[in-house]
Amino acid sequence: KRKGMIFDLDGVIVDTAKFHFLAWRKLANDLGFDFTEDQNEQLKGVSRVHSLHKILKWGGMELSEEEFQRQMDLKNENYLSYVNEMDATEILPGVTKILDYLIGNDIPFALGSASKNARTILKKIDLLEKFDAIVDGTDVTKAKPDPEVFLIAAEKLGVKPEDSIVFEDAVAGVQAANRANMTSIGIGDKSNLGEADYVFSDFTEIEREFIEQLLRK
Ligand code: G6P
Ligand code: MG
Repeated sequence: KRKGMIFDLDGVIVDTAKFHFLAWRKLANDLGFDFTEDQNEQLKGVSRVHSLHKILKWGGMELSEEEFQRQMDLKNENYLSYVNEMDATEILPGVTKILDYLIGNDIPFALGSASKNARTILKKIDLLEKFDAIVDGTDVTKAKPDPEVFLIAAEKLGVKPEDSIVFEDAVAGVQAANRANMTSIGIGDKSNLGEADYVFSDFTEIEREFIEQLLRK
């Protein structure tokens, strides 16, 4: 049976959450209120526009449409200044090994990310050419937990949803995979990602036998 794998980007392949945090915190501070790491946690997998709506709500603020757009652009500019410093050393432990295994065994894999910066980041870490398909925030109209991003990715790989395996660090991402009828693998803390079919703290915890077993199913 032809199986395929779909990887989220932020928090799965690279730890860009720390850069999003710095950029959102600067925005909040510039607007005159604080922004905690705990709040940042709630923005994982959430699109840029939805994130700003949430942050403004936390700060008890409203912006005109024009100012909203300007703040989003400023945040992204700031975020990209961190991204610009990235290189392949930022790839999270164990990721390269699994990608090389998939390539060596002719198992197709895609990126399924909410980020509009996904291609820029993949290029910085030298992974852009490795993926068989890339679906990102510029390709979708509906944000996770809507399954759209993963359904498009599976279609591009030529794999049925039920034969697709998704790696996600965000609750909304795990829900999107489940709604797509795919196998969901949470990367992170079991206490948040309990809805996933399997949870691992990171890729170094995933044994080759586990992957082989999933592929045989
Ligand atoms: C991912 C991250 C979110 C981020 C979103 C949009 O889902 O986990 O924190 O807000 O992508 O990213 P972007 O690069 O388009 O602002
Ligand atoms: Mg993520």
